[in-house]
Amino acid sequence: VLVIVRDEAEEFARDAAALIVDRIRGGRIRTLGVATGSSPLPVYRALADYPLETFSELSLYALDEYVGLARSDPRSYHSVVMHEVATPLGIPATRVHVPDGTIEGLSTAGHRYEAEIASAGGIDLQILGIGTTGHIGFNEPGSALKSRTRIKTLSARTREDNARFFSSLESVPRHCVTQGIGTILDARSLVLVATGKAKSDAITAALEGPLTTMCPGSALQAHPDVTVFLDAAASVRLELLDYHRDAHLHRPDWQLL
Ligand code: F6R
Repeated sequence: VLVIVRDEAEEFARDAAALIVDRIRGGRIRTLGVATGSSPLPVYRALADYPLETFSELSLYALDEYVGLARSDPRSYHSVVMHEVATPLGIPATRVHVPDGTIEGLSTAGHRYEAEIASAGGIDLQILGIGTTGHIGFNEPGSALKSRTRIKTLSARTREDNARFFSSLESVPRHCVTQGIGTILDARSLVLVATGKAKSDAITAALEGPLTTMCPGSALQAHPDVTVFLDAAASVRLELLDYHRDAHLHRPDWQLL
């Protein structure tokens, strides 16, 4: 795991966007996995600074979707991916893939999404955020490490964290369809972004704690190509970061774990 710490999210967003564009131009990314939520927004804004032709072959795959919201609902992750990523990058809706969270489609949503990903040849690079519970996608603590796309129940903590996107806590959906941890680990490379002190415990557990289902983010330790971008606040509790700083083994703001 390569950990890159910058003072502000806008700084690492430029680094992350440069890494992604470099790989798109090198022909290594045709399918991009996108997280929703606040953390990756600066990265999407930085990507939009590149010429749109950069993304002319790119297909997008969301990590997850709420159960029970219509695709057209502005709070659905389909709408969020369209609004925050696809439209600014000039990617048409036909190349935007999101799990089906409608009640009618629920029983087959997981299998169908896995099949969509497989028929595209897998996800080349997956962008991730991390929840305060340590979740990646909506794989809450206790999620099986080999899990595939399926229905999950959101934890009370995650519903509270995401209530800011809804009119009330009560209106936050209770269930989701999310890529499994096994699905996420199948992506050829992973980029995790986290900002703010509220994420520092989850980041420390994920990067320096044991590999455990109780912190789904720790599953990243089992992937061979992971880059983690943090702002200073999200990195404050990392102990090995100080070790590497002292040892001058790497640039002071770069860390290999
Ligand atoms: C979003 C997702 C979640 C978020 C996480 C962090 O598609 O799967 O894992 O990445 O909840 O959310 P923010 O960035 O809003 O703090």
